[in-house]
Amino acid sequence: MRPESPLDFDAETMRQMGYRVVDALVDYWQSLPARPLGKRPPREALERLLNEPTPQQPQSFEAVLDEFLQKVLPNIVKVDHPRYFAFVPAPNEYVGVLADFISAGMNVFVGTWMVGAGATQVERVVIRWLCDWFGMPASAGGLFVSGGSVANLVCLAAARQQYPDALARGKVYYSDQTHSCVARAWRILGLREEQLCVLPADENFQIPLGALAEQIRRDRDAGWTPFCVVANAGTTNTGAVDPLNALADLCEAEGLWLHADGAYGAAAILTEEGQQRLQGIHRLHSLAVDPHKWLYQPMMAGCAIVREFEHLRTAFRILPPYLQDKERGAAGVDLCDYGVELSRNFRALKLWMSLKTHGVEAFRQAMEWNLHLARVAEQTIRNLPDWEIISPATMGILAFRYEPPRLRPEQVDALNRALVDAMLNDGFALVSSTVLRGRVALRMCTLNPRATEADVRETVRRLNEFAASYPLGEMTT
Ligand SMILES: Cc1ncc(COP(=O)(O)O)c(C=O)c1O
Repeated sequence: MRPESPLDFDAETMRQMGYRVVDALVDYWQSLPARPLGKRPPREALERLLNEPTPQQPQSFEAVLDEFLQKVLPNIVKVDHPRYFAFVPAPNEYVGVLADFISAGMNVFVGTWMVGAGATQVERVVIRWLCDWFGMPASAGGLFVSGGSVANLVCLAAARQQYPDALARGKVYYSDQTHSCVARAWRILGLREEQLCVLPADENFQIPLGALAEQIRRDRDAGWTPFCVVANAGTTNTGAVDPLNALADLCEAEGLWLHADGAYGAAAILTEEGQQRLQGIHRLHSLAVDPHKWLYQPMMAGCAIVREFEHLRTAFRILPPYLQDKERGAAGVDLCDYGVELSRNFRALKLWMSLKTHGVEAFRQAMEWNLHLARVAEQTIRNLPDWEIISPATMGILAFRYEPPRLRPEQVDALNRALVDAMLNDGFALVSSTVLRGRVALRMCTLNPRATEADVRETVRRLNEFAASYPLGEMTT
């Protein structure tokens, strides 16, 4: 007789376990606005709390779930919290959460058409929706990956493959506002440091067109082969969008691949401000966009989109004997041939279910609210003395600084960094810091559709209160 699997439960127990999880999730969602953001405890404390040998004895699922809720959850800063304005927030949408549950529960494999045809087609449909939003031609296509870092890597691999000279003498161009994952992608792809030309951004944090054209000309004269420009469709620092139309003109004239990192920003094409700023996005050769950022999906979900879908296949396809069976039968699309992963889970399901359940108009409204909140934050800060706006509300990001008189720049920098720590310790809300034009600046990124105007105003009020109570006396010169 077949022994019972030691890892299975009966149907009723499975249901009860699932209900417990749904209850815990809904409680979490409902109580989130009233909760603190979460802690960053010292490592030793968490080692004491959580380290243990491999469990030998079984215990109830409920006990394990409770342990997670009590010991782990409070020690996580909640990136989906309505007052998490730091870095790039990750506000979840509930249909997407359930879709991830289904995708894991049915363990859908989306690597080959042979076993994953239906799921592959859903992924192609969702990618087509995105391509349509961006005005990409029928030849365009792409696939879901883990996030923006890998989406950029996959697109840039396609770019490199189109230029036989790329590795030996290729040069690529981007501004110093570009996300670090682009430099990392080029490193993985085998380009040397000297092949990466990083141009200082202009006063609007955009790539300087004149300097770029001049640099390309000089590099050609010096025997390099310029082959790719990486534009920003929303920088992490300030939300700046590089002038895509002008870059497309330049790249067309020079025969270069134009990629844009729109990991956080490209989805803003659904909004009025996004449409204004992202003009020319339809002319890109490739684009990275992260549904797990501004399309409110649970991590991990990024998309690599290329103008010529087959360029991905050229870059990635390898056919080993143990996959030969997938080549026969009804012709389809094997997404494993278009990217890095063979085993691919059903990441597209969440955006498919989410867009179908809500309709795209709900997304547009949520995003317009996000943009509005950034403007509210800007106005609130402008009304306070001693605060300076470094970059106005752009694509839902605001950069600013507390700049009281009679302090040296390095003291102002230290004070602003200290404000982030004060907010983290306080636990009500979080902003993050960066460096703009050589000076520390604070950032607020208002991407959570559940954030309110009151959340934004109270966050700024607390920042101001912490700033005002900072021991300036010890600092003044
Ligand atoms: C503009 C931009 N590009 C790339 C990334 C990296 O994306 P991921 O964290 O999904 O790998 C980010 C993350 O915030 C980003 O803002």
